[in-house]
Amino acid sequence: MSADLLTRYGDGIEASLDRLFPMEACRQSAIFSACRYSLLDGGKRLRPALLMEFYRLCGGNPVDALPFACGLEMIHTYSLIHDDLPCMDDDDYRRGRLSNHKVYGEALATLAGDALLNRAFEVMLEQTAVPSERAVACARYIARCSGVYGMIGGQVQDLALEGKTASEEEQLEMIALKTGALLRAACVGGCLLAGADETAVARAEQYAQAVGLAFQIRDDLLDVIGDAKTLGKQTGSDAQKEKCTFVSLYGKEACEKKIDALTRAAVEAAGHFTDGQALIELACWLAGRDH
Ligand code: IPE
Ligand code: IPE
Ligand code: MG
Ligand code: MG
Ligand code: MG
Repeated sequence: MSADLLTRYGDGIEASLDRLFPMEACRQSAIFSACRYSLLDGGKRLRPALLMEFYRLCGGNPVDALPFACGLEMIHTYSLIHDDLPCMDDDDYRRGRLSNHKVYGEALATLAGDALLNRAFEVMLEQTAVPSERAVACARYIARCSGVYGMIGGQVQDLALEGKTASEEEQLEMIALKTGALLRAACVGGCLLAGADETAVARAEQYAQAVGLAFQIRDDLLDVIGDAKTLGKQTGSDAQKEKCTFVSLYGKEACEKKIDALTRAAVEAAGHFTDGQALIELACWLAGRDH
């Protein structure tokens, strides 16, 4: 069972990803294979679905947001390919099959990540359905959340904390960046694309902050209590790499409690949107997800 929001937008996202990153028969066809191997391998599509839903809640037609939704999923996919590299988390499985570098080698996996990042912005800037001022505001926000002020910054902190004990404040910042930032890009990005007002943007930010933190704590928990087959990635990976996680710092029970509190905060933020029911259901589903 999945959340209604993921089911509602899932097929449209899959079809668009396939269309926006087609296979090409050329001398460098290997890079197209490598990108498509990771892009079209059945992730939850959480970030694109959120972007489309916030766009809809702020008055847009979700279909028009697809290039931004798919661009963001390309960036997320690139972050996973690089995250699994031996020089980072050194993980052999992702989304139920071998990691990109285990199939294509480290050089092509590195290039596949780079290629997905570039294609993401190409796709966002090529679209014509949304007026360019809003499109640029959304693309700019996604760029900021993906880079040194966002996901990349958080990944740097994550690596620097390996083998160390972080303060709660350090841990919270690291998660808000490495995972929270792309979820913020989805929620706030959808609002900016629709030209929403400051109040809607602030509510989207609150929802994303709560969901983002809960999401990573659940991810850390699943690395300990989850089933590798259902998860699609190996468990015990964080302990092996001496990752500093919420579980290693506070234990499983405290994590469950924190996830509950954050989910309540997300539900409250979503309640401010007329028709925000699917956001509420999604936050609750994510709190207990098994993959
Ligand atoms: C995994 O993200 C990486 C984290 C931020 C914890 P997801 O759990 O959304 O991965 P997919 O896209 O569904 O595979
Ligand atoms: C991932 O955090 C965050 C990214 C930016 C990719 P993790 O390293 O815990 O994610 P998984 O467990 O490998 O999916
Ligand atoms: Mg990592
Ligand atoms: Mg990892
Ligand atoms: Mg993890």
